[in-house]
Amino acid sequence: MSDNNRILIFDTTMRDGEQSPGASMTHAEKLELADVLETMGVDIIEAGFPASSIGDFEAVREIARRSRSSTICGLSRATEKDIDRCGEAVREAARPRIHTFISTSPVHMKHKLQMGPNAVLEAVGRSVAQARNLVDDVEWSAEDATRTEFDFLCKCIDAAIHAGATTINVPDTVGYTHPDEYGALIRSLRETIPNSDKVIWSTHCHNDLGLAVANSIAGAQNGARQIECTINGLGERAGNAALEEIVMAFKVRGDSLPFETGVDSTRIARASQMVSRITGFPIQYNKAIVGKNAFAHESGIHQDGMLKNTETYEIMKPEDVGVSKSSLVMGKLSGRNAFRDKVGSLGYELDPDSLDEAFRRFKALADKKKQIFDDDILALIDDQLSAIGERVAFRSLRVIAGSEGPQTADLAVLVDGNEASTSCEGNGPVDAVFNAIRQIVDHDARLDLYQVHAVTGGTDAQAEVSVRLNGEGIMAVGRASDPDTLVASAKAYIYALNKLEARRMKRMAA
Ligand code: KIV
Ligand code: ZN
Repeated sequence: MSDNNRILIFDTTMRDGEQSPGASMTHAEKLELADVLETMGVDIIEAGFPASSIGDFEAVREIARRSRSSTICGLSRATEKDIDRCGEAVREAARPRIHTFISTSPVHMKHKLQMGPNAVLEAVGRSVAQARNLVDDVEWSAEDATRTEFDFLCKCIDAAIHAGATTINVPDTVGYTHPDEYGALIRSLRETIPNSDKVIWSTHCHNDLGLAVANSIAGAQNGARQIECTINGLGERAGNAALEEIVMAFKVRGDSLPFETGVDSTRIARASQMVSRITGFPIQYNKAIVGKNAFAHESGIHQDGMLKNTETYEIMKPEDVGVSKSSLVMGKLSGRNAFRDKVGSLGYELDPDSLDEAFRRFKALADKKKQIFDDDILALIDDQLSAIGERVAFRSLRVIAGSEGPQTADLAVLVDGNEASTSCEGNGPVDAVFNAIRQIVDHDARLDLYQVHAVTGGTDAQAEVSVRLNGEGIMAVGRASDPDTLVASAKAYIYALNKLEARRMKRMAA
């Protein structure tokens, strides 16, 4: 395969992905995710929007400082202040990039920017030139490009190239286009604009019509060599093109899609689970590549075929995306070394103290549950990582439930290291538990979502609970697992509350 067919993978999970309502990430979570993305071979990591908040600025700066091989990119509007701030945030990266954008469609220019085409065109040249004074690698995006008049789009891109842009991104901001149309647009732009061969063409497709991946691939077939995407397809509204689907489409269909990425696909499952844990957004069961059912075969005919030859119903192997073949793992008698190996094979590197704590939790779980599956261990470690460094920490819970009320919860927690406990009634056991938390930690957040899943099959399965809280428009999701559904519920609520508090502080500081 020639270099010509190498597709650069630009991950924007921490920027466009984080713009999904409720999906925001803490500083530590962003550092953790950046490390995973870099290790998996993502070429460009869009780490945030530095001018949007102090938190975003600091996360981008720290990710830039720690970066090794990936290009670290920050987003910025076409203003002097934004671009300076962005330049400062990415400055220490091994490979820094400024990504600046402005809307070019009639509807955006008139209603959003309240600027005429000439002013927009002038801003394109000025913003790109300013960014180029700060870094060598500048990406320019025409927001809402797919609803922009072609001639005006060409003029803007021409101005951006002239001012020194090195990558030109053609966003389908509202997920409006379809593959033939988008492919033709990329091709026509490349054929019409002078010096189009001096820049890298990029796709950025939203999924409002479920076409984001197909459109991105059409872009590649017509000359784009960078694809912007997110893990699990996270992003504004219906999300962005899913990184895992792009990477695997090229890998599985190399016969007719002769493109190559630098992503190590065996790290996909880990990244996907991490993003789901951090954001609290569950992965749809039948989600391509990373859904729980993506490699499950239920019907007799399919199972029979699979036993005879896996190629009958599988176009890729679970191991190709980092899902281990056998998920039945360990039990009560498994030792610490075997546990450490298992944790490593699931893609986690825990420091010795965290490993000790995870092993203690594993033993406690194995006392309650006969068979421990990979998913149990993943849930257990995710739960442990969610609890680190939190202001409110779960201690114990006793609940009286059943048909004869009142249902009562006796809850003990630590708040800033101090023991606090209470007993509360509720309209059902979950309500009693949440009332108890509310009594100890006074807050006015609204419960927007309460969701329970079984981590594995069986009546002794762990429950995985997601809770989404909404405090005056700031949202936070907590996710926890435990063999006891009510304990998992209490923990998930507490994790969400801690995140909400952290987010509120961040907003106040900004
Ligand atoms: O969707 C979009 O247009 C964007 C740009 C800022 C690149 O996210
Ligand atoms: Zn976008």
